[in-house]
Amino acid sequence: MARSLLITRIGELVTNTPDAGGPPGTAGPGRFAAISDAALVIEGDRVAWTGPAGQAPAADEFLDAAGRAVLPGFVDSHAHLVFAGERSAEFAARMAGRPYQAGGIRTTVAATRAATDAELRAGLRRLAGEMLSQGTTTFECKSGYGLTIDDEARCVALAAELTAEVTYLGAHVVPAEFAADPAGYVDLVCGPMLAACEASCRWVDVFCERGAFGEDESRAVLTAGMARGLLPRIHASQLGPGPGIRLAVELGAASADHCTFLTDADVAALASSGTVATLLPGAEFSTRQPYPDARRLLDAGATVALATDCNPGTSYTTSMPFCIATAVRDMRMTTEEAVWSATAGGARALRRSDVGYLAPGARADLVILDAPSHAHLAYRPGVPLVHAVYQSGTPR
Ligand code: NIG
Ligand code: FE
Repeated sequence: MARSLLITRIGELVTNTPDAGGPPGTAGPGRFAAISDAALVIEGDRVAWTGPAGQAPAADEFLDAAGRAVLPGFVDSHAHLVFAGERSAEFAARMAGRPYQAGGIRTTVAATRAATDAELRAGLRRLAGEMLSQGTTTFECKSGYGLTIDDEARCVALAAELTAEVTYLGAHVVPAEFAADPAGYVDLVCGPMLAACEASCRWVDVFCERGAFGEDESRAVLTAGMARGLLPRIHASQLGPGPGIRLAVELGAASADHCTFLTDADVAALASSGTVATLLPGAEFSTRQPYPDARRLLDAGATVALATDCNPGTSYTTSMPFCIATAVRDMRMTTEEAVWSATAGGARALRRSDVGYLAPGARADLVILDAPSHAHLAYRPGVPLVHAVYQSGTPR
């Protein structure tokens, strides 16, 4: 039998499931819930028990949390980690007053094409390591900086070395060599490029935005991926209102990401669908755009996730604690809502029922904070509060 570990004297245990302690292997994350003076038992790679410390069962090993808070590992459901180079000059220019333009993506495309596999792998591993040290135990990773058949195929293959949540984003932007033939590029994305990438991917995505891909092109890309067994998600309404949210709901996408400029109809569509609204405050921070209004979505009944959007152009952060703090301060989320969205919300956005919560049967992914409650993630912005991280029951 797998060895068991009892973590006890937990000041606050965020479980994200109101019935923690129930039968193993049930439903996946529920709503925000927390237990004070708690304990948790890990058996092998799974959570075996949660509850009040005074009722904890015996275990092979024992860890004293000394009043610290324990949370589910963060689930970062939106990141672009396979790229070369950096664009700090572009960021500095924006901070000096220039607007963000999606065309900056092409700078990273040129650097990525010129990089070796070893260089791309090293960059990806560095960013994944940053994520883990800040409490992220599950992450999604997109392609989108290769934009040739071979470069997209190697980007998704490299991502698949580190995560099961790999997204094909051949439709990130039309590359310069197709500027005169965008329809030809969409055909490539829907045909041979998809064929070369699909084996490494679970998801298909498109940047549905003025300056990138329009409604019909986006629908073509997503339905082509779906026909090959990939699940749809979408970059929508980042730079202005557009058709992307409606399209996401129409196609039953797991998530519509960015959601910065929403119409009332978009909000209503999200609220009455199974499509998660994934908000990416790092992008607004780094482009000096207005933050999306999470309150409006939550009050309408939509499910909200928070993710980093880590990429070299618009959000070069791997920090879910930063996203939580920003969402609480500037997007009208409560501390409970923000922590839920960064854990259970991310799991919903990735259609995962094994992560984002802590109850019997869940994967034993957890973050121990050097703080007594989850609220400190927003209350103490910029402070490295992660004391320890367990991934599949193993200390990392
Ligand atoms: O999610 N929106 C499109 N893609 C990225 C930006 C990528 C870039 O500028 O390099 C995003 O913000
Ligand atoms: Fe993105």
